[in-house]
Amino acid sequence: MDLKSEISRRRTFAIISHPDAGKTTLTEKLLLFGGAIQTAGAVRSNKIRKTTTSDFMEIEKQRGISVSTSVMAFEYNNIRVNILDTPGHKDFAEDTYRTLSAVDSVILVVDSVKGVEEQTRKLMEVCRMRHTPVMIFINKMDREGLHPYDLLDELEKELSIAVCPYTWPIGSGKQFRGVYNLFKKEIQLFAPDKSSVPESLLCTKDIQDPRLKQYVGEDHVSKLWEEIDFIGDLYETFNINLYREGYLAPLFFGSALNNFGVLELLETFLQIAPCPGPVESSARQVMPFEKNLTGFVFKIHANLDPNHRDRIAFLRICSGKFERNKFYFHTRIKKNLRFSSPASFMANSKSIVEEAYPGDVVGLYDSGNFKIGDTLTEGEMLHFQGVPSFSPEILKEVVNLDPMKTKQLEKGVWQMTDEGVAQLFLQQPGNRKIIGTVGELQYEVIRFRLEHEYGAKCSFSQLPFIKACWITTDDKKELENFIRRKPGAIAYDKENNPVFFAESDWMLKLARENFPSITFHETSDFKLKV
Ligand code: G4P
Repeated sequence: MDLKSEISRRRTFAIISHPDAGKTTLTEKLLLFGGAIQTAGAVRSNKIRKTTTSDFMEIEKQRGISVSTSVMAFEYNNIRVNILDTPGHKDFAEDTYRTLSAVDSVILVVDSVKGVEEQTRKLMEVCRMRHTPVMIFINKMDREGLHPYDLLDELEKELSIAVCPYTWPIGSGKQFRGVYNLFKKEIQLFAPDKSSVPESLLCTKDIQDPRLKQYVGEDHVSKLWEEIDFIGDLYETFNINLYREGYLAPLFFGSALNNFGVLELLETFLQIAPCPGPVESSARQVMPFEKNLTGFVFKIHANLDPNHRDRIAFLRICSGKFERNKFYFHTRIKKNLRFSSPASFMANSKSIVEEAYPGDVVGLYDSGNFKIGDTLTEGEMLHFQGVPSFSPEILKEVVNLDPMKTKQLEKGVWQMTDEGVAQLFLQQPGNRKIIGTVGELQYEVIRFRLEHEYGAKCSFSQLPFIKACWITTDDKKELENFIRRKPGAIAYDKENNPVFFAESDWMLKLARENFPSITFHETSDFKLKV
C-alpha cells in the first residue's frame, strides 16, 4: 500500500473525560469491537485507580503497567484505529494535555448524571486551543440523568462548542428505552435482556410499527416525536467542515457499560473523523504525505526499576514512513540516531515495529537523549509546535537534605523535568530550584525517584503562588523594570525565559493592568512561534 493510502486509513484519537464518566469502559468496548482484546476487563485492570498521595507507589506500579496501553491499535473495516490512552488521575492532567497534541481528534465522554465537570472543562479548553475535532458520548443513560435539553444547553454554554445530536434518547434511567438515530432515521431499542423484545424491533426503521408503543410505552413514543420536531430548530445541522475545524460536536447518547450506542459511535467516528493532517512546525507546515519522515516525542515513560534505567519515548509520526534501523536526525541535539527495537504496545504485550506511518505512535528505547517535544527528521532542521507546558498551579522549592549528593539531585531534577514529570524554574540568588506541577502527586513521584534512582534526598517547601506565567515584551526596559520590582516573584525556566509567579488571580490581573506592554502567557506555546 502506498503512503497516501496508509495515511487515509488511519484514525488517531484520544478518549477524554472527567474521571469516572466511563472512559475506560468505552475504550474497552471499542477494543472488543476491534478484536484487539478478547475479554472485558483487560483495560480496566490497567487503569490508574483513584488513590491518595500515600498510595503513590501503587499508582506508579499501575503507571508501569499502563505503558502497555499507551497506544491501543486495532483494525476495523480496514481502518487502522490508534487510541492514545490518557491517564484518568487529575494529577497527571499534564500528560493528558500533551497527549492531545498527538491526536487528530477526540471523543469526549460525559456522565449524563453529572453533566459538565471540572476536567471536562479543562480538557475542552485544550481541544479548543488546538481546534481538535470533538465527538461527544453522553454515557450512563441507564441512570436517572439530566434532561437532554438541559444537558446539551450546559455543554454548549460551558464548553463553548455547538452540538449536533446524531441520536436522541428515549427516556432515561429506569425508563431508558433506547435512541432514535436522526441520520439513519431508525430506532434502536435498549433491552438489557434482548430476549424480552422481538428481534425485528431491536433496530427498526419502521417507526410507525404499532408494537413500538407496547415495548417503548405510548408516552415515550409521543414525547420522542415532539422532541424530534424541535431538534432541527434547536441545534446546528451537521457540517463536516465545522466538525473538523472543532466548532461543532456530533453527539451520541448511550451506555458504555451496557454496550449500547457504542458501535454507532465507532462507525460514525470512522466515517467522519479526520485522518492525519498537516502539522505546524517552527520552519513550515509539514504535510503527512511528504516522503521524508518527521515526528515528535509527546510522552516519556521512565522505568522505575533501577536495574533497567532505560526510558521509552513515544514518537508521533507526522510525515513519511518510519523504518526500523534507519538513521534519523534529532534536531535539538543535532545527532543521528538509529532505533533497533522500536515498539508498539498492546494490552500487556509489546512487539517490534518494522515500519510505521503518519498517525502511528512508536515507542523508542532511550538512554537520555530525548525530552518532551523533541523532533526527528531525515536531516531537515525543524521543531514541531504544540507540545506546550501549561502554567503550573502548585509551586514548591526543592530542599536538599543531603549536601553530599547535590550533583545527583541536580541531575535527577533536570532529567525528570525533561521527561515532563513537572516543570523546573530557577530563582536567583542561590540558584533555588522551584518545581511547578498541576498535582500534589508529582512531588511524591519526584521525591521517591530522586531517592531510589539518583540516591539523593530532598523535601519540598510550599511557596505562596498559584500560577506561573511566562512573560514577554518588545519593550526591554519595561521588562527590566518589572523584573526589578518583583524580585521574589520572578524566576527563569530551563531555557532561561523569565517567568512571573502570581500569588492570586487578582495579583495577576493587577500585574497585567499595570504593565500593559508585557504579555503574561499561561502556556509555553509562545516559545515556538518564531
Ligand atoms: P473512567 O475511566 O472515566 O474513570 O470511568 P470508568 O470507565 O472506570 O467508569 C467509572 C464507573 O462507571 C465504573 O463503575 C463503571 O462500571 C461505571 N460505568 C461506566 N459506564 C456506565 C454506564 O453506561 N452505566 C452505568 N450505570 N455505569 C457505568 P465502578 O463501580 O467505579 O467500577 P467497576 O467496579 O465497575 O470497575
